[in-house]
Amino acid sequence: MKLSLPFLLVSTTTAFAPAPSASRHVATSLSVASNPTTQLIPPSKIDASSVASLFEERVQKTYGRYPITFVEGKGCWLVDEDGKKYLDFVSGIATCALGHSNPELTEAVSTQMTKLHHVSNLYYTPQQAKLAAWLCENSCADKAFFCNSGAESNEAAIKLARRHASNRGITDPVIITAEQSFHGRTLATVTATAQPKYHKGFTYGGEMVRGFRYTPYNDIDALKKLVDEINTTPEEDAKAGRKRGLAAIMLEPLQGEGGIRPGTLEYFATARKLCDENGALLICDEVQVGMGRSGMLWGHQQLNVEPDVFTSAKALGGGVPIGAMMARGEAANVFGPGDHASTYGGNPLACAAGLAVAEYMSEHNVLENVQERGNQLSAGLEDIATRYPSVLGEVRGWGLLKGVAIKEDAGCTAAELVGDAMKEGLLLVAAGPSVVRFVPPLIVNEDEIADALVRFEKAIEKRVKSS
Ligand SMILES: Cc1ncc(COP(=O)(O)O)c(C=O)c1O
Repeated sequence: MKLSLPFLLVSTTTAFAPAPSASRHVATSLSVASNPTTQLIPPSKIDASSVASLFEERVQKTYGRYPITFVEGKGCWLVDEDGKKYLDFVSGIATCALGHSNPELTEAVSTQMTKLHHVSNLYYTPQQAKLAAWLCENSCADKAFFCNSGAESNEAAIKLARRHASNRGITDPVIITAEQSFHGRTLATVTATAQPKYHKGFTYGGEMVRGFRYTPYNDIDALKKLVDEINTTPEEDAKAGRKRGLAAIMLEPLQGEGGIRPGTLEYFATARKLCDENGALLICDEVQVGMGRSGMLWGHQQLNVEPDVFTSAKALGGGVPIGAMMARGEAANVFGPGDHASTYGGNPLACAAGLAVAEYMSEHNVLENVQERGNQLSAGLEDIATRYPSVLGEVRGWGLLKGVAIKEDAGCTAAELVGDAMKEGLLLVAAGPSVVRFVPPLIVNEDEIADALVRFEKAIEKRVKSS
């Protein structure tokens, strides 16, 4: 497949590239929709010779997609339908921690599938118990709640914070989140996501879900001021018997989608203190930065802070969907039976994947690898940035969650550079309009980092020469 399009990736979830023209395919003529029958059309009868055309016709356009169809992967490499190999520094958006086709993960999931894959949370299953214990033994948390994605884990944290506040007599619980954050796409989590572009067209009377307030990330004074304001219930509401109060401060230890911005020690210490003073919960969204990507198991460990609640997904299952909302102390016992639920949450198949990732990370010094390879990546990117100062700026991030800023007057966007790198056989992903993000599998080796740097520099060199 030739890559001739200007790639205009704006964010992880809003890539757009001109869609291939669709041709009507056999599924339409076979459609039973207008003539209901018990005779189903089997998938084997659907003409999938043009995957792109099927997408065009049958998949809702919530994503723009690059015109590549991947058919297999091994380690840090992906292969498209034409046999072209790509070095994958996206890893399913910071998800495939062990790369593709990892033998231990494959074996664990395949074996579990042959035994028991789902029974619901009406019963005990050993895999969920063991994964919950592993997560708690390796963090400050006491108890886990399992779900299927990052948004769902944050949704659970938001509900827990509201219930916790309600138990303290607060009728109007406020959750503070940071500008440029990203917490997911459900109505509550996209409201928590303090980026207006994600709210457009989803409001009711101009409002999203009530009870969220936004503050600039890493701005201590603004955070203190906002907490003070929240602590005073407006007079009219107080007269009506309502009480406003701080339910939680919810922060990413490092903002991923918001442009690879690490939190500061002072800011997180302040957030912790404000939560303690107000009986509120500190929630860390570890969906992207957690499970080893920062070089420590949890991003908040980089900031020397213990949250009451933290969330995990992405790398937790190494690409098999699973999420977890972890809680500590009093927060761990806020929910009782029936308060929150998820049909699939923590089923044996997903937990077998989580356990395989956990086992591999524990037994193969993965955190050490993340730190070493992360340092190699930063040093290499900084070298390239000094050679191309008109295009590349600051290199930032932790471990294997790194970003390089594109200069304002570079004449190109991060998305266009991602497209350039793709032509060199290197997959990258933008983090906002002006940062190129590098999130390889956590098992990436020294040669692969060196290879990626060569390909990235080639892409930059070509762009500079052609401009
Ligand atoms: C920090 C953070 N939180 C939450 C999410 C949402 O996760 P999911 O897409 O699994 O719902 C993401 C996804 O990119 C994320 O980066």
